[in-house]
Amino acid sequence: MSAGATQDAANIDDATIEMLVHTFYSRVRSDELLGPLFDERVPDWDVHVQRMCLFWASVMLLEGRYATQALRRRAPPEFSRPHFSRWLQLFRQSALETCPGPAAELFIARAELIAASVAPARGA
Ligand code: HEM
Repeated sequence: MSAGATQDAANIDDATIEMLVHTFYSRVRSDELLGPLFDERVPDWDVHVQRMCLFWASVMLLEGRYATQALRRRAPPEFSRPHFSRWLQLFRQSALETCPGPAAELFIARAELIAASVAPARGA
């Protein structure tokens, strides 16, 4: 079965993505560790959340609405392992709460792969 077919079977659509992304970033904003980091860097939350919905649509629905190269511009070096663990923890929690059935696991697996590719190998 192709990745696309797996994702179709999990019924991932724009509504699922919006629910997950909104839930996740409202959690990030109120998080003690990550909230201040994001607040310093995100000038407009509506724009950021909207872009992240496009990002997740391009990852999960295999659409080209988001230029994934933009990901390379991010992950500044001062984000260390504890930040990435917290990010993944909040993401996992949000996915399990908002995504029906197997969709949550598909999102989580993707987030873990991407985090591993952008996170520092070592760090405090
Ligand atoms: C320690 C973990 C992370 C932190 C603290 C973090 C923080 C941020 C911040 C502050 C921004 C907005 C400003 C900027 O571009 O610098 C951003 C953008 C972005 N983040 Fe993260 N991030 C983290 C992990 C991740 C992971 C694991 C992914 C992918 C699964 C991701 C995907 C993105 C994308 C695609 C953008 C660009 C949005 C745009 O087009 O403007 N981030 N991140």
